[in-house]
Amino acid sequence: MSGYVLAIDQGTTSSRAIVFDASMQPVATGQKEFQQHYPKSGWVEHDPEEIWKGVVSTARSALRKAKLEAADVAAIGITNQRETIVVWERDSGKPIHNAIVWQDRRTAPMCEKLKTEGLEETFTAKTGLLLDPYFSGTKLAWILDEVKGARERAEKGELLAGTIDTFLIWRLTGGKAHVTDATNASRTLLYNIKTNEWDDELLKTLRVPKALLPEVKDSAADFGVTNKKLFGAAIPILGVAGDQQAAVIGQACFQPGMLKATYGTGCFAMLNTGQAMVSSKNRLLTTIAYRLDGVTTYALEGSIFVAGAAVQWLRDGLKIIGKAADSGALAAKADPTQQLYLVPAFVGLGAPHWDADARGAIYGLTRNSGPAEFARATLESVAYQTRDLLDAMRKDWQDGETETVLRVDGGMVASDWMLQFLADMLDAPVDRPTQLETTALGAAWLAGSRAGVWPDTEEFAAGWKLDSQFCPAIDADVRDRKLEGWRDAVRRTLSAT
Ligand code: G3P
Repeated sequence: MSGYVLAIDQGTTSSRAIVFDASMQPVATGQKEFQQHYPKSGWVEHDPEEIWKGVVSTARSALRKAKLEAADVAAIGITNQRETIVVWERDSGKPIHNAIVWQDRRTAPMCEKLKTEGLEETFTAKTGLLLDPYFSGTKLAWILDEVKGARERAEKGELLAGTIDTFLIWRLTGGKAHVTDATNASRTLLYNIKTNEWDDELLKTLRVPKALLPEVKDSAADFGVTNKKLFGAAIPILGVAGDQQAAVIGQACFQPGMLKATYGTGCFAMLNTGQAMVSSKNRLLTTIAYRLDGVTTYALEGSIFVAGAAVQWLRDGLKIIGKAADSGALAAKADPTQQLYLVPAFVGLGAPHWDADARGAIYGLTRNSGPAEFARATLESVAYQTRDLLDAMRKDWQDGETETVLRVDGGMVASDWMLQFLADMLDAPVDRPTQLETTALGAAWLAGSRAGVWPDTEEFAAGWKLDSQFCPAIDADVRDRKLEGWRDAVRRTLSAT
């Protein structure tokens, strides 16, 4: 059988399809951006039909560019923006509402109510998550509450729900498979990560009928085969993981203590904690990193909602750069005597603050502050936020005893300036691999290894190659002064103060 694997990476702002060859190198890519809908302040939606069409067309385009027929492809791996939820009709496959995106804050009041009822501890103990609108459960409850007749129809079994992977698989298999994997399930606020099953008590609390939810499988498993009509031949779907978890795999962070951060729309740092479910005392999440052969590997996760999205703001909002890649060069020109702090709380703040109501702020402006200083403050904010996550992880994990090396990936890590500043602020080395398609590679590896055409974990991990290592090179007192300024800016931005 051929070693070609097709990875579908359905992200927050674009859908991508990448064909990898037998040596695990990307050979062709299809990509399509899609529209973001902001119906109200703090609300973010996607049109599932637009996502579906984009996924099919990018997959076809990648196959075409690679000069492959569907029959040449051993397997498909899917990775996706997590927590974004869709509800659709079982018979027609038609969504009953737009997808509610992970960034959407509309269920903040519902989360507050559940917290005042004293339920956060129960949710955290079972799911590893917090009561924040970020996760899918309250978004799903909102659709059932707000779309006319939805809850009744759900109870009668007429509707199905799922994260984007589940919706795509339902469509790809022509309505034959209603499935997800353990990593995606672990982001819903409905899945018990200890017992690895949907939790009846949580379902009851959020009044979500179990019949709506997909079957949960290992991350490498038989998820169904594509409808022949789509690509000309049936292709088995053998790997599924949420995008951040796929990056953990793509970065070969298979050993406890290994840490990665992916800089996409947001930034998500994940520390592999092995088979131990570490509960955070510092407002990090406990989540499933992957489940292989029935064995669950856990991670501590720090989630920052705005990273690359702040660079997009420089490009599309402030229009001070033509393309995202120009941000590092512009930042490097900033006046070193000015110290601006941007707190990019555009959709609230994630870990470790979890403040859904905070909004962005900038401090330290002078008459001389211009585009270069804004660009620098934006890139610096991403590094400062990563430092906050790392501080929390160091406290939660083996009492800070371990040496930390951070493996990074995602669009922003192309900038050497950004990574040097990151290493300076973390006071730890930052490793950039040669292969930057780590998310897609992780999904492809799940599928390719399951198909038996790609190597096992050890051989795959041995193939990880370093492009550059960035080491801390700043005076400790300069670092401390900068970090103190950042912490002060965050304190002034939090909504309660
Ligand atoms: O949890 C949200 C995450 O999955 C989105 O990832 O790559 O769009 O920042 P990304």
